[in-house]
Amino acid sequence: MRRSSDLQPEIADESAWWRDAVFYQVYVRSFADANGDGVGDLDGIRSRLGYLELLGVDALWLTPFFTSPMADHGYDVADPRDVDPLFGDLAAFDRLVTEARAHNLKVTIDLVPNHTSDRHAWFQAALRAGPGSVERDRFIFRDGGGFDGSVPPNNWSSQFGGPAWTRVPDGQWYLHLFAPEQPDLNWDNPEVAADLARTLRFWLDRGVDGFRIDVAHGMAKPYGLPNIDPRVELGAGVMHDNALDPRFDNDGVHEIHRMIRKVIDEYPGRMAVGEVWVADDERYARYLRPDELHLGFNFRLLEAPFDADAVRSAVEHGLGAVRSVGAPATWTLSNHDVPRHVTRYGGGDLGARRARAMALVELALPGVVYLYNGEELGLPDVELPEWALQDPIWLRSGRTLRGRDGCRVPLPWEGDTPPFGFSEAVTTWLPQPNEWAGLTAESQLEDPESMLSFYRHALELRKSQPAFEGDELEWYGAPPGCFAFRRKGGGLICALNTSGGPVPLPPGEILLASGPMDGNQLPPDTAVWLV
Ligand code: GLC
Repeated sequence: MRRSSDLQPEIADESAWWRDAVFYQVYVRSFADANGDGVGDLDGIRSRLGYLELLGVDALWLTPFFTSPMADHGYDVADPRDVDPLFGDLAAFDRLVTEARAHNLKVTIDLVPNHTSDRHAWFQAALRAGPGSVERDRFIFRDGGGFDGSVPPNNWSSQFGGPAWTRVPDGQWYLHLFAPEQPDLNWDNPEVAADLARTLRFWLDRGVDGFRIDVAHGMAKPYGLPNIDPRVELGAGVMHDNALDPRFDNDGVHEIHRMIRKVIDEYPGRMAVGEVWVADDERYARYLRPDELHLGFNFRLLEAPFDADAVRSAVEHGLGAVRSVGAPATWTLSNHDVPRHVTRYGGGDLGARRARAMALVELALPGVVYLYNGEELGLPDVELPEWALQDPIWLRSGRTLRGRDGCRVPLPWEGDTPPFGFSEAVTTWLPQPNEWAGLTAESQLEDPESMLSFYRHALELRKSQPAFEGDELEWYGAPPGCFAFRRKGGGLICALNTSGGPVPLPPGEILLASGPMDGNQLPPDTAVWLV
């Protein structure tokens, strides 16, 4: 949708298509499997483009499909300029981009600049070459402490549990903020930036419309790799006060983003969104300065419980953070790293009702929305049996943290039994629950009450109605546990009730409600759009 009012010149420009786009995250392993091996692939995505066009999204974000030993399901990249045979090949990628264009869908892809796979040619060469070599300088190798070097170089822990250092046979240690199979690159080495520029151009030349940048607040490391103050409680979540954590959000990262932006600017109409787990609004905004990222994921909405005050605060932070830099706000409720929001909001019918309400809130907001595949079907997280778990977090935590597999189960497309049209294989890489028979895309398409029909309707209104114009909100007074805001430009009103009882509706005509109305009242766990 193009906005006519209150736009700066750059914003009105067609080439800034991403400023109010709805992106759809395709977790490639789990979307659709065309070659019958139980794992999703690029041709599988291509076979479902009609569905995505019907859903009404503008752009896709594909999770990594590059050559990888799959220690972190593709976020361990052995060759960033090729397709892993599990997912297809470069020809399959080209076919996908061409056909997506015919369906009016932009294609954006993941980029993993913080680390490589331990099978990347560079890392293999680094292991062979030994301490002090130019090959080792592309990664972060250090000698250990203690009389025999057996103490890790500092006290950093890995995001997946355990120390962030692994020792190699000659006694040195290398840094990995994630799994040991994901060695961190040394961004002080100019070869690293040059190689990323090459990767960017490789995919831009193949026609991608943009990138999602993995761990965009990582990459730069502080001089001397100082210890984390052991008195500091970083908390279990990924979103914490980075000022206390030397591993992330170091100032040097911005030079890297400026480099990335320069390359992308050579290709008009292309964009980048960063995965920026930075809690402080001012520090978060730095990533979105005009010569850095176009967009940054803001995870506050995803972290907010189903509570009107918490959601309002997330929205105000989300809008406030980007105001000073003129970037659009970016909203997301689920992705491949967190439990699905139907489950987070209580699961079952209650979770689904709340998920519908929150979808209306999210889609009413100014800026960019990222949907996660399957949320339009109302999929919950799956309680997988232990034998099925594959996330490296499970093993690295000594089988205490189950990890992220529950939100990555392959999508149910049609039929009454697994694999529900996802694959021709009997076994899929993660098992689907039998109960998903009622959640298939096929069963929801013709049902006007389904989650899928609801998303289609909401997306259609968001795209077509002038009520959705304007970048600022005005908040109404509302009963406890509720809020209502109005888009200042177009006038759309969105009201949410997270309280225990019905409340009066704000004045206006109902455009769409997330559930049945109670006469003139907005029932609990419900949201509504009014004009
Ligand atoms: C990001 C990805 C996550 C991955 C990690 C390491 O947080 O979203 O899935 O495990 O980076 O690359």
